[in-house]
Amino acid sequence: MMWRILVTDEMQLGEASWPGVLLDYRPGMPREEVLEAIGAYDALITRSRTRVDRELLERGTRLKVIGRGGVGVDNIDLEEASRRGVMVVNVPEANTRSAAELAFALMLAAARGVALSDRKLREGVWDRKFLGLELRGKTLGIVGLGRIGSQVARFAKHFDMRVLAYDPYIPRARAESLGVELVDELEALLHRAQFLTVHTPLTEETRGMIGRRELYLLPKNAVVVNAARGGIIQEEALLEVLEEGHLFAVGLDVFAQEPPPVDHPLLHHPRVVHTAHLGANTFEAQERVGEAVLERVVKALKGDFTYAI
Ligand code: NAD
Ligand code: MLT
Repeated sequence: MMWRILVTDEMQLGEASWPGVLLDYRPGMPREEVLEAIGAYDALITRSRTRVDRELLERGTRLKVIGRGGVGVDNIDLEEASRRGVMVVNVPEANTRSAAELAFALMLAAARGVALSDRKLREGVWDRKFLGLELRGKTLGIVGLGRIGSQVARFAKHFDMRVLAYDPYIPRARAESLGVELVDELEALLHRAQFLTVHTPLTEETRGMIGRRELYLLPKNAVVVNAARGGIIQEEALLEVLEEGHLFAVGLDVFAQEPPPVDHPLLHHPRVVHTAHLGANTFEAQERVGEAVLERVVKALKGDFTYAI
Protein backbone atom coordinates (compact mmCIF):
# COMPACT_ATOMS: atom_id res chain seq x y z
CA MET A 1 0.00 0.00 0.00
CA MET A 2 1.40 3.43 -1.02
CA TRP A 3 0.63 6.77 0.62
CA ARG A 4 0.10 9.58 -1.84
CA ILE A 5 1.26 13.02 -0.72
CA LEU A 6 0.49 16.21 -2.63
CA VAL A 7 2.79 19.23 -2.15
CA THR A 8 1.20 22.46 -3.41
CA ASP A 9 3.71 25.10 -2.33
CA GLU A 10 7.40 25.73 -2.98
CA MET A 11 9.46 23.48 -0.67
CA GLN A 12 12.91 21.86 -0.52
CA LEU A 13 12.05 18.28 0.22
CA GLY A 14 15.53 16.83 -0.26
CA GLU A 15 16.64 13.87 -2.30
CA ALA A 16 15.73 11.10 0.10
CA SER A 17 12.87 8.89 -1.02
CA TRP A 18 10.53 7.37 1.53
CA PRO A 19 9.48 3.76 1.21
CA GLY A 20 5.74 3.46 0.67
CA VAL A 21 5.37 7.14 -0.27
CA LEU A 22 4.46 8.65 -3.64
CA LEU A 23 5.27 12.34 -3.61
CA ASP A 24 3.57 14.68 -6.05
CA TYR A 25 5.44 17.99 -6.03
CA ARG A 26 3.19 20.61 -7.63
CA PRO A 27 4.21 24.03 -6.25
CA GLY A 28 1.95 26.88 -7.30
CA MET A 29 -0.85 24.47 -8.26
CA PRO A 30 -3.99 26.58 -8.89
CA ARG A 31 -6.77 26.15 -6.35
CA GLU A 32 -9.24 24.67 -8.86
CA GLU A 33 -6.73 21.94 -9.71
CA VAL A 34 -6.01 21.23 -6.04
CA LEU A 35 -9.73 20.86 -5.43
CA GLU A 36 -10.07 18.48 -8.34
CA ALA A 37 -7.05 16.38 -7.40
CA ILE A 38 -7.15 16.29 -3.60
CA GLY A 39 -9.53 13.31 -3.40
CA ALA A 40 -6.71 11.01 -4.51
CA TYR A 41 -4.26 11.92 -1.72
CA ASP A 42 -3.61 10.75 1.83
CA ALA A 43 -1.72 13.88 2.81
CA LEU A 44 -1.27 17.46 1.70
CA ILE A 45 1.83 19.57 2.38
CA THR A 46 1.51 23.35 2.07
CA ARG A 47 2.93 26.67 3.12
CA SER A 48 0.80 29.80 3.54
CA ARG A 49 -0.39 30.11 -0.08
CA THR A 50 -2.76 27.14 -0.08
CA ARG A 51 -6.04 27.80 1.73
CA VAL A 52 -7.02 24.57 3.45
CA ASP A 53 -10.64 25.40 4.10
CA ARG A 54 -13.85 23.43 4.53
CA GLU A 55 -14.32 23.04 0.76
CA LEU A 56 -10.87 21.55 0.28
CA LEU A 57 -11.22 19.27 3.28
CA GLU A 58 -14.62 18.10 2.04
CA ARG A 59 -13.11 17.15 -1.31
CA GLY A 60 -10.16 15.42 0.38
CA THR A 61 -12.09 12.29 1.17
CA ARG A 62 -8.87 10.26 1.60
CA LEU A 63 -6.97 12.90 3.56
CA LYS A 64 -5.43 11.84 6.84
CA VAL A 65 -2.74 14.46 7.38
CA ILE A 66 -2.07 18.12 6.53
CA GLY A 67 1.57 19.16 6.83
CA ARG A 68 2.30 22.88 7.20
CA GLY A 69 5.86 23.69 6.13
CA GLY A 70 6.34 26.46 8.66
CA VAL A 71 4.67 27.90 11.74
CA GLY A 72 1.41 29.69 10.97
CA VAL A 73 -1.69 27.55 10.59
CA ASP A 74 -4.04 30.48 9.98
CA ASN A 75 -4.56 29.21 6.41
CA ILE A 76 -5.92 25.91 7.72
CA ASP A 77 -9.43 25.37 9.08
CA LEU A 78 -8.26 23.47 12.15
CA GLU A 79 -11.76 22.91 13.48
CA GLU A 80 -12.99 21.33 10.28
CA ALA A 81 -9.81 19.23 9.99
CA SER A 82 -10.27 17.96 13.53
CA ARG A 83 -13.99 17.26 12.93
CA ARG A 84 -12.98 15.09 9.98
CA GLY A 85 -10.18 13.36 11.87
CA VAL A 86 -7.47 14.92 9.70
CA MET A 87 -4.26 15.43 11.68
CA VAL A 88 -2.38 18.73 11.21
CA VAL A 89 1.38 18.88 11.79
CA ASN A 90 3.70 21.87 11.40
CA VAL A 91 7.40 22.71 11.76
CA PRO A 92 7.30 25.73 14.05
CA GLU A 93 10.97 25.84 15.03
CA ALA A 94 12.60 25.48 11.61
CA ASN A 95 12.28 29.03 10.30
CA THR A 96 12.54 31.02 13.55
CA ARG A 97 16.03 32.33 12.91
CA SER A 98 15.32 33.35 9.33
CA ALA A 99 12.03 35.06 10.19
CA ALA A 100 13.69 36.98 13.04
CA GLU A 101 16.59 38.03 10.81
CA LEU A 102 14.19 39.37 8.18
CA ALA A 103 12.15 41.28 10.77
CA PHE A 104 15.36 42.86 11.98
CA ALA A 105 16.49 43.59 8.43
CA LEU A 106 13.20 45.41 7.78
CA MET A 107 13.62 47.38 10.98
CA LEU A 108 17.10 48.54 9.95
CA ALA A 109 16.07 49.16 6.36
CA ALA A 110 13.07 51.24 7.44
CA ALA A 111 15.14 53.25 9.92
CA ARG A 112 17.82 54.03 7.31
CA GLY A 113 15.71 54.60 4.19
CA VAL A 114 17.42 51.74 2.36
CA ALA A 115 14.57 51.08 -0.09
CA LEU A 116 13.91 54.76 -0.69
CA SER A 117 17.53 55.49 -1.53
CA ASP A 118 17.76 52.37 -3.67
CA ARG A 119 14.70 53.42 -5.68
CA LYS A 120 16.05 56.95 -6.16
CA LEU A 121 19.44 55.73 -7.32
CA ARG A 122 17.80 53.46 -9.87
CA GLU A 123 16.06 56.57 -11.19
CA GLY A 124 19.43 58.32 -11.43
CA VAL A 125 18.88 60.52 -8.35
CA TRP A 126 21.83 60.94 -5.97
CA ASP A 127 20.03 62.21 -2.86
CA ARG A 128 21.92 62.45 0.43
CA LYS A 129 19.35 64.52 2.30
CA PHE A 130 17.67 61.57 4.06
CA LEU A 131 18.49 61.34 7.76
CA GLY A 132 17.74 58.04 9.42
CA LEU A 133 17.52 56.76 12.97
CA GLU A 134 20.00 54.78 15.04
CA LEU A 135 18.76 51.78 16.96
CA ARG A 136 21.16 52.23 19.86
CA GLY A 137 19.48 53.48 23.02
CA LYS A 138 16.00 53.21 21.52
CA THR A 139 13.12 51.22 22.96
CA LEU A 140 11.83 48.27 20.98
CA GLY A 141 8.33 47.00 21.69
CA ILE A 142 7.73 43.36 20.78
CA VAL A 143 4.17 42.09 20.64
CA GLY A 144 4.34 38.30 20.99
CA LEU A 145 7.46 37.04 22.75
CA GLY A 146 7.45 33.52 21.33
CA ARG A 147 10.19 31.88 19.26
CA ILE A 148 10.62 34.69 16.72
CA GLY A 149 9.89 37.56 19.10
CA SER A 150 12.51 36.19 21.53
CA GLN A 151 15.13 35.94 18.80
CA VAL A 152 14.38 39.53 17.71
CA ALA A 153 14.81 40.54 21.36
CA ARG A 154 18.26 38.90 21.43
CA PHE A 155 19.30 40.78 18.29
CA ALA A 156 17.98 44.05 19.72
CA LYS A 157 20.05 43.58 22.88
CA HIS A 158 23.15 43.31 20.72
CA PHE A 159 22.15 46.63 19.13
CA ASP A 160 21.99 48.23 22.59
CA MET A 161 18.22 48.68 22.54
CA ARG A 162 15.89 48.55 25.54
CA VAL A 163 13.37 45.81 24.92
CA LEU A 164 9.77 45.67 26.11
CA ALA A 165 7.34 42.91 25.31
CA TYR A 166 3.61 42.38 25.55
CA ASP A 167 2.57 38.74 25.63
CA PRO A 168 -0.11 37.70 28.11
CA TYR A 169 0.57 34.00 27.56
CA ILE A 170 4.20 33.59 28.60
CA PRO A 171 5.75 33.26 32.03
CA ARG A 172 7.49 36.38 33.30
CA ALA A 173 10.64 34.32 33.83
CA ARG A 174 11.00 33.84 30.07
CA ALA A 175 11.11 37.60 29.49
CA GLU A 176 13.46 38.06 32.42
CA SER A 177 15.87 35.45 31.07
CA LEU A 178 16.08 37.50 27.87
CA GLY A 179 16.57 40.79 29.71
CA VAL A 180 13.18 41.94 28.39
CA GLU A 181 10.68 43.97 30.38
CA LEU A 182 7.28 42.29 30.12
CA VAL A 183 4.36 44.71 30.34
CA ASP A 184 0.82 43.73 31.29
CA GLU A 185 -1.01 45.98 28.87
CA LEU A 186 -0.47 46.55 25.17
CA GLU A 187 -0.99 50.27 25.74
CA ALA A 188 1.91 50.42 28.18
CA LEU A 189 4.18 49.03 25.48
CA LEU A 190 2.85 51.32 22.77
CA HIS A 191 3.41 54.47 24.82
CA ARG A 192 7.15 53.71 24.97
CA ALA A 193 7.96 51.80 21.76
CA GLN A 194 10.06 53.90 19.39
CA PHE A 195 10.32 50.73 17.33
CA LEU A 196 7.41 48.28 17.20
CA THR A 197 7.43 44.75 15.83
CA VAL A 198 4.64 42.17 15.98
CA HIS A 199 5.28 38.42 16.28
CA THR A 200 1.95 36.88 17.22
CA PRO A 201 0.02 34.34 15.19
CA LEU A 202 -3.02 35.64 13.29
CA THR A 203 -6.02 34.74 15.44
CA GLU A 204 -9.43 36.20 16.16
CA GLU A 205 -7.76 38.04 19.02
CA THR A 206 -4.79 39.46 17.11
CA ARG A 207 -6.52 40.33 13.82
CA GLY A 208 -6.54 44.12 13.67
CA MET A 209 -5.12 44.46 17.20
CA ILE A 210 -3.01 47.45 16.11
CA GLY A 211 -5.22 50.11 14.57
CA ARG A 212 -5.26 53.89 14.31
CA ARG A 213 -5.73 54.46 18.05
CA GLU A 214 -2.86 52.09 18.92
CA LEU A 215 -0.52 53.60 16.30
CA TYR A 216 -1.14 57.06 17.72
CA LEU A 217 -0.09 55.81 21.16
CA LEU A 218 3.42 55.25 19.79
CA PRO A 219 5.89 58.09 20.25
CA LYS A 220 6.09 60.35 17.18
CA ASN A 221 8.52 59.07 14.54
CA ALA A 222 8.22 55.44 15.53
CA VAL A 223 9.25 52.67 13.14
CA VAL A 224 6.72 49.86 12.71
CA VAL A 225 7.44 46.37 11.39
CA ASN A 226 5.11 43.50 10.56
CA ALA A 227 6.81 40.29 9.48
CA ALA A 228 4.22 38.05 11.17
CA ARG A 229 0.88 38.15 9.37
CA GLY A 230 -0.94 40.74 7.31
CA GLY A 231 -3.93 42.10 9.18
CA ILE A 232 -2.44 42.08 12.69
CA ILE A 233 -1.73 45.76 12.01
CA GLN A 234 -4.67 47.32 10.17
CA GLU A 235 -3.31 48.38 6.79
CA GLU A 236 -5.62 51.33 6.20
CA ALA A 237 -4.80 52.76 9.61
CA LEU A 238 -1.09 52.21 9.04
CA LEU A 239 -1.20 54.16 5.79
CA GLU A 240 -3.22 57.01 7.32
CA VAL A 241 -1.01 57.39 10.36
CA LEU A 242 2.11 57.27 8.19
CA GLU A 243 0.71 59.88 5.82
CA GLU A 244 -0.29 62.09 8.74
CA GLY A 245 3.40 62.17 9.69
CA HIS A 246 3.18 60.35 13.01
CA LEU A 247 5.35 57.40 11.95
CA PHE A 248 8.90 57.56 10.63
CA ALA A 249 8.79 54.47 8.46
CA VAL A 250 7.32 51.01 8.09
CA GLY A 251 8.69 47.58 7.16
CA LEU A 252 6.32 44.91 5.89
CA ASP A 253 6.86 41.29 4.87
CA VAL A 254 3.19 40.34 4.95
CA PHE A 255 -0.11 41.69 3.69
CA ALA A 256 -3.77 41.12 4.51
CA GLN A 257 -4.20 39.86 0.95
CA GLU A 258 -1.28 38.02 -0.64
CA PRO A 259 -0.17 38.90 -3.18
CA PRO A 260 -1.42 42.43 -2.49
CA PRO A 261 -3.16 44.29 -5.34
CA VAL A 262 -0.54 46.05 -7.50
CA ASP A 263 -2.06 49.45 -6.70
CA HIS A 264 -1.99 48.81 -2.93
CA PRO A 265 -1.02 52.26 -1.57
CA LEU A 266 1.37 50.84 1.04
CA LEU A 267 3.39 49.26 -1.77
CA HIS A 268 4.05 52.65 -3.29
CA HIS A 269 4.62 54.73 -0.18
CA PRO A 270 8.19 56.08 -0.08
CA ARG A 271 8.54 55.38 3.64
CA VAL A 272 7.57 51.72 3.39
CA VAL A 273 10.07 48.97 2.70
CA HIS A 274 8.53 45.64 1.82
CA THR A 275 9.33 42.05 0.97
CA ALA A 276 7.03 39.40 -0.45
CA HIS A 277 6.46 37.16 2.58
CA LEU A 278 10.11 36.11 2.52
CA GLY A 279 10.61 35.64 6.26
CA ALA A 280 11.23 31.91 5.95
CA ASN A 281 12.91 32.09 2.57
CA THR A 282 16.53 31.22 3.20
CA PHE A 283 18.34 28.16 1.93
CA GLU A 284 18.94 27.11 5.51
CA ALA A 285 15.38 27.48 6.78
CA GLN A 286 13.82 25.86 3.74
CA GLU A 287 16.14 22.90 3.97
CA ARG A 288 15.15 22.41 7.61
CA VAL A 289 11.45 22.98 6.92
CA GLY A 290 11.28 20.63 3.93
CA GLU A 291 13.07 17.77 5.64
CA ALA A 292 11.11 18.03 8.86
CA VAL A 293 7.66 18.51 7.39
CA LEU A 294 7.96 15.44 5.20
CA GLU A 295 9.27 13.35 8.07
CA ARG A 296 6.46 14.51 10.35
CA VAL A 297 3.79 13.88 7.74
CA VAL A 298 5.04 10.33 7.13
CA LYS A 299 5.14 9.69 10.88
CA ALA A 300 1.61 11.01 11.21
CA LEU A 301 0.44 8.75 8.38
CA LYS A 302 1.89 5.87 10.37
CA GLY A 303 -0.19 6.96 13.35
CA ASP A 304 2.46 8.85 15.32
CA PHE A 305 0.70 11.83 16.96
CA THR A 306 3.86 13.48 18.36
CA TYR A 307 3.70 16.54 16.14
CA ALA A 308 -0.07 16.93 15.90
CA ILE A 309 -1.35 20.43 16.60
P1 NAD B 1 5.21 31.36 18.72
O1 NAD B 1 3.96 30.60 18.94
O2 NAD B 1 6.49 30.84 19.23
O3 NAD B 1 5.04 32.84 19.28
C1 NAD B 1 3.86 33.57 19.20
C2 NAD B 1 3.70 34.35 20.50
O4 NAD B 1 2.58 35.22 20.36
C3 NAD B 1 3.41 33.42 21.69
O5 NAD B 1 4.35 33.63 22.71
C4 NAD B 1 2.01 33.82 22.13
O6 NAD B 1 1.83 33.76 23.52
C5 NAD B 1 1.94 35.25 21.62
N1 NAD B 1 0.58 35.75 21.47
C6 NAD B 1 -0.52 35.08 21.05
N2 NAD B 1 -1.59 35.89 21.08
C7 NAD B 1 -1.16 37.08 21.55
C8 NAD B 1 -1.80 38.31 21.82
N3 NAD B 1 -3.11 38.48 21.63
N4 NAD B 1 -1.06 39.34 22.28
C9 NAD B 1 0.28 39.19 22.48
N5 NAD B 1 0.94 38.04 22.28
C10 NAD B 1 0.23 37.00 21.80
O7 NAD B 1 5.29 31.58 17.15
P2 NAD B 1 6.56 32.05 16.31
O8 NAD B 1 7.28 30.87 15.81
O9 NAD B 1 7.29 33.10 17.05
O10 NAD B 1 5.81 32.70 15.04
C11 NAD B 1 4.94 33.80 15.21
C12 NAD B 1 4.17 34.07 13.93
O11 NAD B 1 5.05 34.60 12.95
C13 NAD B 1 3.60 32.81 13.26
O12 NAD B 1 2.35 32.47 13.80
C14 NAD B 1 3.47 33.23 11.82
O13 NAD B 1 2.20 33.79 11.58
C15 NAD B 1 4.54 34.31 11.66
N6 NAD B 1 5.66 33.90 10.80
C16 NAD B 1 5.89 34.61 9.66
C17 NAD B 1 6.93 34.24 8.85
C18 NAD B 1 7.20 34.98 7.56
O14 NAD B 1 7.62 34.37 6.61
N7 NAD B 1 7.00 36.27 7.52
C19 NAD B 1 7.76 33.16 9.19
C20 NAD B 1 7.51 32.46 10.36
C21 NAD B 1 6.43 32.85 11.17
C1 MLT C 1 5.20 30.58 8.49
O1 MLT C 1 4.16 30.74 9.11
O2 MLT C 1 6.01 29.68 8.79
C2 MLT C 1 5.53 31.53 7.42
O3 MLT C 1 4.41 32.08 6.84
C3 MLT C 1 6.55 31.01 6.48
C4 MLT C 1 6.11 30.42 5.21
O4 MLT C 1 5.11 29.76 5.10
O5 MLT C 1 6.81 30.63 4.26
